Amino acid sequence: MSFRPPVRDDLAELPGYHSPQLDVEHRLNTNESPEPPPLGFQQAVVDRVAALEWNRYPDRGVTELRTKLAAHHVADHPGITPDNIFVANGSNEVLQTIMLAWGGPGRSILTFEPTYAMHGQIARVTGTGVIEIERQDDFTIDADHAITTLGETRPIATFLCSPNNPTGIVEPPELVQRVLDTVCDFGLLVVDEAYAQFSDWSALELFDEDTAMIVTRTFSKTWAMAAARLGYLIAPKWIIERLNTAILPYHLDAVSQAAGSAALDFEDEMNARVARMVEQRGAIQAGLADLGIEFWPSQSNFVLFRPSNNSGNEVWQQLVDRSVLVRNCASWPRLDGCLRITVGTSDENRAFLAALADIVL
Ligand SMILES: Cc1ncc(COP(=O)(O)O)c(C=O)c1O
Repeated sequence: MSFRPPVRDDLAELPGYHSPQLDVEHRLNTNESPEPPPLGFQQAVVDRVAALEWNRYPDRGVTELRTKLAAHHVADHPGITPDNIFVANGSNEVLQTIMLAWGGPGRSILTFEPTYAMHGQIARVTGTGVIEIERQDDFTIDADHAITTLGETRPIATFLCSPNNPTGIVEPPELVQRVLDTVCDFGLLVVDEAYAQFSDWSALELFDEDTAMIVTRTFSKTWAMAAARLGYLIAPKWIIERLNTAILPYHLDAVSQAAGSAALDFEDEMNARVARMVEQRGAIQAGLADLGIEFWPSQSNFVLFRPSNNSGNEVWQQLVDRSVLVRNCASWPRLDGCLRITVGTSDENRAFLAALADIVL
């Protein structure tokens, strides 16, 4: 066998990020939108793509999409301009760019566990240390403990996820403010708001040009566009300038830019879709309560629940046997026996609840 040059020692030991897909009728495991965007959106993308100059590099500054995003946000959050926005290939690439710019050997970020696993994963891939604070048994953050640990460890970036994946909990405004007041002397606060439109509060309320806070968003969930790989962040201009140094030139292709710009013309449809998902989330939570199954109140498009007697693994398999795929978190650290269901269509949610009733009753 020919010589295989070793990767970095720290990378060799790192497990990858896994999210297994199975061929089932109801895929309720990756927090996608169960509904596609409207037909009008699809036609708008086709028209835009037909008009592309394929021999030219895309607009490096992503001007139209950033301008439309600023217009989308400014009504609720005055002061946001196109210069406060950075767009990339999914919010995962947005997060990675933050780590490329502020992480690296000798630096650490801080996460509140359990949370979205990619925060720690991307940090480690970029050679950044990870400090973990445990959430309490109900998955809320102990604010006093957090503030003390932050002061002692002084991470270069502190990650909150609100609503938090996989628990669905929104971080209270007072906690976000306290964390921000603490970290602003030594680092950035990053609030991952992939699911923000499903909740009733956004950290964008704390946005201003002098605050070292980044809020990340995605088109994958509320905009029903996981296929497009589009995410963005909102932050003070000096942060955007640093990110533009770390990102590759022409990183965002013209088709993705066209899809994002087209999507923003269908905001009313997006809001209506989100309202339907929120209603369906209520139906799932009511169904779980009727079955006497423990679950955590969610402000997102998924619900974390724990079948009794630590039977998460068995229940997951029995759901698969009934062609329903949910996320199996039963063996994840701090999530013993838990499963997470993504809100689907009313038919899918009914199928899930019927299968679950069949298993547990
Ligand atoms: C909290 C959170 N942040 C970011 C992402 C990544 O989203 P994107 O598809 O924009 O990369 C996800 C995806 O599930 C997520 O749950």
